Amino acid sequence: MNTFQLGDLAVNRMGYGAMQLTGPHVFGPPRNREEALAVLRELVALGINHIDTSDFYGPHVTNQLIREALHPYADDLVIVTKIGASRGADASWLPAQSPKALEAAVHDNLRNLGLERLDVVNMRLMFDVMGPAEGDVEAPISALAELQHRGLIRHIGLSNATARQVKQARSIARIVCVQNQYNLVHRHDDALIDELAKDGIAYVPFFPLGGFSPLQSTILSDVAAQLGATPLQTALAWLLQRSQNILLIPGTSSVAHLRQNAAAADLILPPEAIRKLNCIVTSA
Ligand SMILES: NC(=O)c1ccc[n+]([C@@H]2O[C@H](COP(=O)([O-])OP(=O)(O)OC[C@H]3O[C@@H](n4cnc5c(N)ncnc54)[C@H](OP(=O)(O)O)[C@@H]3O)[C@@H](O)[C@H]2O)c1
Repeated sequence: MNTFQLGDLAVNRMGYGAMQLTGPHVFGPPRNREEALAVLRELVALGINHIDTSDFYGPHVTNQLIREALHPYADDLVIVTKIGASRGADASWLPAQSPKALEAAVHDNLRNLGLERLDVVNMRLMFDVMGPAEGDVEAPISALAELQHRGLIRHIGLSNATARQVKQARSIARIVCVQNQYNLVHRHDDALIDELAKDGIAYVPFFPLGGFSPLQSTILSDVAAQLGATPLQTALAWLLQRSQNILLIPGTSSVAHLRQNAAAADLILPPEAIRKLNCIVTSA
């Protein structure tokens, strides 16, 4: 698998997102705990060394599963977490972005993952139905920079960020990655991806397969059939070829799906296939 640098940490471009390892609505324990642990052990066996998680998944559930399955961690395993929200008892998502709340979230992640320092922490910013919401990021990024200075965080990233917020954050601290929604049919961040690529900053699309309702398109199915691949493998391969700074974190609760997704790292899309796939967004 080819690699990309998250600061001084090298990760394979095919990673894994742990959000699907909770119960329904990203809340509570998984339906199949043994399968969840098997997914985590299998991803390491497949050569994946980048896991995306958060202590607000469950809450605590994915981090505790990761620790149970994989601690003590392999030297090359990079665990990226995110902070900026908390969960209500009814599974609701609540903002938690004060400096005090961010520090508490860093300690929750450290404790539940069994780490003394977090590899990468994404500041998950506010968003609305239209996507990331503009707003000043000085206070939260300064708080993260302070936690980095104290040795609790190795690298800082952003999630749900606009181009303006990325620019402001980069004037305060070194940003190694941006995690926003992006996939074959949701391409609002095309310009941002290219801008980050020029500066060697990773772009990590969430919902790379379309999220809770995976992508469906006749064009995608036709192209996949011609390549002898599945539509979702083809969607992942398209992202890997879209830009060298794109790192993938497809989520799954299934070992069989994990293996299919990992195999997409070896799928090469010929130019004609890419041309057809690029038409999906313009024909949508
Ligand atoms: N920063 C943020 O605000 C944010 C928001 C959302 C997600 N994330 C991160 O991004 C990661 C990826 O997003 P996601 O997991 O929500 O969405 P996703 O990767 O786009 O898709 C996950 C969905 O696809 C299904 N799936 C996966 N592989 C499949 C396969 N080979 N065949 C058929 N179905 C398959 C999964 O079901 P099965 O479990 O049945 O495979 C699940 O329903 C998350 O895990 C999380 O770490 C971040």
